[in-house]
Amino acid sequence: MDEERWSQLEGYIDGLLLGADPALEAALESSAAAGLPPIQVSPGLGKLLHLLARGCGARRILEAGTLGGYSTIWLARALPRGGRLVTLEANAAHAEVARANLESAGLAGSVEVRLGRAAESMAALVDEGAGPFDLVFIDADKSGYPDYLEWSLRLTAPGSLIVADNVVRRVSTDGAGPADPDTAGIRRFLEMLGAERRLDATVVQTVGSKGHDGFALAVVVEPAPAG
Ligand code: SAH
Ligand code: DHB
Ligand code: MG
Repeated sequence: MDEERWSQLEGYIDGLLLGADPALEAALESSAAAGLPPIQVSPGLGKLLHLLARGCGARRILEAGTLGGYSTIWLARALPRGGRLVTLEANAAHAEVARANLESAGLAGSVEVRLGRAAESMAALVDEGAGPFDLVFIDADKSGYPDYLEWSLRLTAPGSLIVADNVVRRVSTDGAGPADPDTAGIRRFLEMLGAERRLDATVVQTVGSKGHDGFALAVVVEPAPAG
């Protein structure tokens, strides 16, 4: 009953604020046709990512977890001329669908889809001196979130924004216990957000067509001097 109402309201609001978007709709269609799971961010969260990237004038964006490139398209569209986005995906079939979707959306020139496990790709990006990224979006396997946060701190600078999807659903006390690797990963991630002096963070809970969930938003700050 609640979920039906949340979905209806989401549809109503998206109808007023988002409008038709052929490139994003085509990306969803080709992802579904290729058999990818429909677990991309909601349109409203996609637009939030876009607005955050535009609002902070992001020139370099990093994403962990590409799927078919739906959130990637939202983010890459916020880039100014000469801006770059690197998105990390472990599944070769997903990466291939994403590359085709980004090409169709006219974004292939500004986006690199890097195939491989996100932690290894982030280590490689550090070695390459690829940072600092102005915005990092973490949305790959939930058990890896603590690692991705550590690497993100090495790939950002004060003022950078770190956004992480799905930090509420698997943590709920009536859901899977802490033995579940996803739950353990998200809990550890939230503990790190609270304890890390280089981050100032909040979590926003959401409801809608994807049920009850939430995302974390953190700003990288200069840690206050000890004492
Ligand atoms: N950001 C996408 C959704 C990502 S779904 C969107 O909103 O449109 C999560 C993705 O992370 C899946 O495509 C999955 O294959 C990928 N993934 C899972 N484990 C990974 C890992 N260790 N490294 C990189 N990608 C991973
Ligand atoms: C699911 C949703 C997500 O946003 C994600 O990143 C991974 C999985 C899901 O609904 O299972
Ligand atoms: Mg997600």
